[in-house]
Amino acid sequence: MDKLAIIGGRALYGEIPISGAKNSALKLMAASLLTDAPLTLSNVPRLADVDMLLRLLEQHGAAHAFENSTLTLQAKDIVSTEAPYDLVRKMRATFNVLGPLLAREGKAKVSLPGGCAIGARPVDLHLKALAAMGADIDLDEGYVIAQAPDGLKGADISLPFVSVGATEHTMLAATLAKGETTIENAAREPEIADLADCLNAMGAQIEGAGTSTIRIDGVDRLGGASHRVLPDRIETGAYAMAVGATGGELTLKGATAELLGAAWAALEEVGLYLEETDGGVRVKKTGARLKTIDIVTQPFPGFPTDLQAQFMALMATAEGAATIKETIFENRFMHAPELSRMGANISVDGQTATVRGVARLKGAPVMATDLRASMSLVIAALAAEGQTMVNRVYHLDRGFERLEEKLQRCGALIERVKE
Ligand code: UD1
Repeated sequence: MDKLAIIGGRALYGEIPISGAKNSALKLMAASLLTDAPLTLSNVPRLADVDMLLRLLEQHGAAHAFENSTLTLQAKDIVSTEAPYDLVRKMRATFNVLGPLLAREGKAKVSLPGGCAIGARPVDLHLKALAAMGADIDLDEGYVIAQAPDGLKGADISLPFVSVGATEHTMLAATLAKGETTIENAAREPEIADLADCLNAMGAQIEGAGTSTIRIDGVDRLGGASHRVLPDRIETGAYAMAVGATGGELTLKGATAELLGAAWAALEEVGLYLEETDGGVRVKKTGARLKTIDIVTQPFPGFPTDLQAQFMALMATAEGAATIKETIFENRFMHAPELSRMGANISVDGQTATVRGVARLKGAPVMATDLRASMSLVIAALAAEGQTMVNRVYHLDRGFERLEEKLQRCGALIERVKE
């Protein structure tokens, strides 16, 4: 398994191109199963998760061409409505093929998903929504077997709590249902509006995406479209925090300020200078030590759970004490003991971590435990004294495109060690 060797203590200067959002690209790719026409997506990041989903889509019958960052998918015929365990277990977003297959073919058999080890992460809301749209759903030996031989029907769905995945999955399935579907308490993450824009370009009738009530008027068929994936707000926030940890100045090319939601305000409050420019976002950290602030993770536009780990790394060397409350996932502090190995002072009590800033972190061998946690270790390592070896880099390859290259170009001493 590859490792990253990082020698800390160098400020970052230069420009980092921000890739298309992984979390959006994956759902947009699943949308290709809804039509026999080509769907062309630009600004698609080349990531292990994208490749994994491509393999799954291929076995359903979707051909693809991927050049630079433009991906064209075409599922002329669905040759299999079954998504096997081996292709679904590693990544939760693969589960999103269920709705499109069911909507287009009237049946699907999809393995229950795996993904990052950050809590139980059930899919009950996804299944309840599909059942409300008339699907007959059985669970058998780890598989969901869903049938709707006469097609899906529009339904009123009220989510008991905000779920990005369930909102997107319901939207995908409802595009081809008969009649109107409403989703109440829908997630408002920017990736939801991105998916709706693409589906509407394919001929769907979706209104209200980006608000907590989404209305989808089902249509008989969808066609092809071209769509540009929105910039990755989590990658943007992570590199901004890297500057916060090391000092320096970066231009995050292609990034959009409004996508950062509450994270933008939090970064300003701790003492980073952020500015929206023509082509992206400029972030700067001058000499002074950062301040600590308390944060609570929330659905968008609140502070994103996907930046919580990175923020903890940032707070590890800030002045004072910060509490970080995780409200979205029940087991998302696995980076805390790893950061502590580097000298951070962190105590965890249930869903709240208290970070007392220390003057300096020290390099150490650490273990990446999930995608975003891995990035928090990279940020800590860039700021630490001496060498850090980050093990299990495959987590990073799932979600951060060309990480070492992007950082090396800005002066970081970071290298992949192949094993
Ligand atoms: C997506 C993102 C992930 C991000 C998360 C929250 C992708 C590929 N992943 O994950 O990076 O951290 O949104 O912003 O887009 N839940 C249930 N039952 C369900 C569905 C969800 O109990 O049927 C729970 C989850 O366990 C979690 C909470 O709801 O505790 C929120 O999950 P959700 O918003 O659905 O996250 P994902 O779509 O899995």
